[in-house]
Amino acid sequence: TGGVTTIDPGYKNTGSCESAITFLNGEEGVLRYRGYAIEDLAEKADFLEVAYLLIFGELPTQDQLNKFHSDIKKHSVVDDDIKKIIDAFPKTAHPMGVLASLTSALTAFNPSSVNVDSEEDMYNAIVRILGKFPVLVAWTMRKKQGLPLNYGSEDLGYVENILKMMFEKPNKAYEQNEILINALDKLLILHADHEQNCSTSTVRIVGSSHAGLFASLSAGISALWGPLHGGANQAVLEMLEAIKEDGGDTKKYMAKAKDKEDPFRLMGFGHRVYKNFDPRAKIIKKAADDVLGDLGVEDPVLDIAKGLAQEALSDDYFVKRKLYPNVDFYSGIIYRAMGIPVEMFTVMFALGRLPGWIAQWREMRLRKEPIGRPRQIYIGENHREFKSINQR
Ligand code: SDX
Repeated sequence: TGGVTTIDPGYKNTGSCESAITFLNGEEGVLRYRGYAIEDLAEKADFLEVAYLLIFGELPTQDQLNKFHSDIKKHSVVDDDIKKIIDAFPKTAHPMGVLASLTSALTAFNPSSVNVDSEEDMYNAIVRILGKFPVLVAWTMRKKQGLPLNYGSEDLGYVENILKMMFEKPNKAYEQNEILINALDKLLILHADHEQNCSTSTVRIVGSSHAGLFASLSAGISALWGPLHGGANQAVLEMLEAIKEDGGDTKKYMAKAKDKEDPFRLMGFGHRVYKNFDPRAKIIKKAADDVLGDLGVEDPVLDIAKGLAQEALSDDYFVKRKLYPNVDFYSGIIYRAMGIPVEMFTVMFALGRLPGWIAQWREMRLRKEPIGRPRQIYIGENHREFKSINQR
């Protein structure tokens, strides 16, 4: 057993690394990126500023931000052969599977693995992925909707271009909508990093074998896809829809969630670290009211969501287990109000988490962390003599 005496399933009590990127205090609901409070960043910064902060450690000056954005724009074109890969997918393919494949394909188009000790090499890889990833995200949505694959434009901002590529209709100029731009900017900031969550730990451990940045990100996308992790935002909307179809009877679903015989969980509730409230959920809940109000959208599932959250507050099962709404509980309601299809919700989570994954991968490599290779406690058969097949 290699001297291992205890194991820690799900690493509930194991620290995997030292990191200077994100700080969480689960008891007090504190989240800071490089020391800055998430509440300040969500209110006062924009997504590209936060990406720069997470990756390079400091808020950029205006000149640094302008240069960062213009370098990113230089890489906002994707090799035409990528379109052939997208065409090869059936329309029924889930956008997260398409995105994971396209992201690792980028490595194939650029076999030179990133020399992390070269600032320039690392910077070029970072602006390349920040330039191409939103195009891949938009194209997975266009593919799903049978719309032509398109590009952003030179004169638009980073988030504006994401919306343009996702929503512009053929032969019709795309009209920017400030409400959508601000809503998406805030959502991406709130998803940008979250210390050693499942997908970030995946990016780190894949990168620890010195696999390329894009291959590591592709692995992170697959981990995020799971309904216990980023896939929860899609599962929340599907659950809320089911409750609505079922007459809005939240008590029945609360009872299902508590029934140990029933595998059903209340999606969007609970968190490994936050044992009071998820500060992001608080901000997103207010944003949901604001955005739906500004867009003039009435969505009955928002009331169902609020009803569930309210009931959980006074339900012993939930209170005892400290199960409160997490980042995934309200985000899908905003995405839907913005016109984003439900199977794209987790892709939007990946788009937000991209700078955090990059920052964490870069920190892991710069700190020359060893390859991740845990041990185990063996509980299988003792040594056995081989039997030929006619003796079995
Ligand atoms: C994200 O780690 C991160 O930071 C993730 C994330 C990020 O930004 O990267 O914040 C994003 O993934 C948010 C979480 C999204 N997932 C969901 O909403 C899925 C539903 N929630 C869970 O399955 C669960 O709460 C987890 C996965 C979030 C946390 O699981 P843990 O920490 O392993 O807790 P657990 O499964 O051991 O549950 C403890 C108890 C159990 O009951 P008992 O065995 O003690 O009786 O709480 C119960 C669980 O059955 N429980 C739930 C529940 N979540 C936990 N019961 C009903 N509904 C739920 N949602």
